[in-house]
Amino acid sequence: MKFMFDTANIEDIKEYKDIFPITGITNNPSIIKKEGKIDFFNHFKEIRKILGFEKSIHIQVVAENCEGIIKDAETILENIDNKIYIKIPVTEEGLKAMRLLKSKGVNITATAVYTKIQSLLALETGADFIAPYFNRMENIGINPREVIETTANMINKYNYSTEILTASFRNIGQVVDAFSSGSQAVTVPPQILHDSLMMPSIQKAIGDFTLDWENIFGKEKSIY
Ligand code: E4P
Repeated sequence: MKFMFDTANIEDIKEYKDIFPITGITNNPSIIKKEGKIDFFNHFKEIRKILGFEKSIHIQVVAENCEGIIKDAETILENIDNKIYIKIPVTEEGLKAMRLLKSKGVNITATAVYTKIQSLLALETGADFIAPYFNRMENIGINPREVIETTANMINKYNYSTEILTASFRNIGQVVDAFSSGSQAVTVPPQILHDSLMMPSIQKAIGDFTLDWENIFGKEKSIY
């Protein structure tokens, strides 16, 4: 299993990277918009410094045609570093660009996946990761579990090295469902992971244990 953070927020990355077992971070233009008009390349160079090269950074292209996508990819790789995973939406132009970039050894994350056929085409095009949009699918009545399961079955059946990196989550139940359906990885806003451990029953259980301990041994919490 792999967990990634779906954020470009440097403070969140710094705060949560030592808490949660993350293997990378992902972005799209809407996530970057939340950070304001950042100095784009320096911002991601700083994130790379914080995360190191053993973690993956996934940055999305903005252009919609093949030529523009290739140009965006080259600009990202030149100005940040050549280990970046280039996120490309699965459209006809996107698939064409993925094939060309893959032939040059570029790391690819196929994104904006809502359907099984998008997923299967990205798989056969050689994407390193495929990102199905869990919550967005649910919003329009598509069952994301079926899309993930079908993709996972094909990966297993034909031994693809591609991993399913499910994205677009609103709650932790969706995250668990993504893994149960066959996702190898998920990308989650750190706040969702934080909230999942702050639930009142967990806090109450810990408070009750502390009270019981203090009732017998007093306020000194240390066992030793
Ligand atoms: C991954 O980075 C996706 O683009 C992202 O998870 C989409 O999430 P959203 O549906 O919350 O916009």
